[in-house]
Amino acid sequence: MKILVVNGPNLNKLDLRDKTQYGSITLNDIEKLLIKNFPDINFHFFQTNIEGEIVDILQNADDKFEGILINPAAYSHTSVAIRDALEICKIPKVEVHLSNIANRDDFRKISLTAAKCDGYISGFKELSYVAGVFVLIKLILTN
Ligand code: DQA
Repeated sequence: MKILVVNGPNLNKLDLRDKTQYGSITLNDIEKLLIKNFPDINFHFFQTNIEGEIVDILQNADDKFEGILINPAAYSHTSVAIRDALEICKIPKVEVHLSNIANRDDFRKISLTAAKCDGYISGFKELSYVAGVFVLIKLILTN
């Protein structure tokens, strides 16, 4: 089973960010955690700070992957372009956030992109990703 994992801006710098919100492990550690927890899954990990690169990979995901786990990071709250790309992508999609976006600044409480995913998991630091993949596999198997 092939799963695309998309991470947006500044998630490549988790070591420099607020550990109370985002936890204390790096994105590379999160990727290793997923591989350890789901050894049979063929993950393709993609991180970018560029909005259009997320649109590009989503536009081509249907043919290459069976599901998408995405943390659009700050673009969750601003990007109509990523939302529209998610809408045209027909495979199962789960959005994840390390922090609890419902319990932060008002501008983080709305995710434009989550509405075009099957659902979202937020607030469990790296475990949001583990839970997200667990749910995504179930969705793929029943798709
Ligand atoms: C985030 C939450 C966003 O508000 C923030 O801009 C991020 C990370 C999270 O995983 O908690 O960069 O998506």
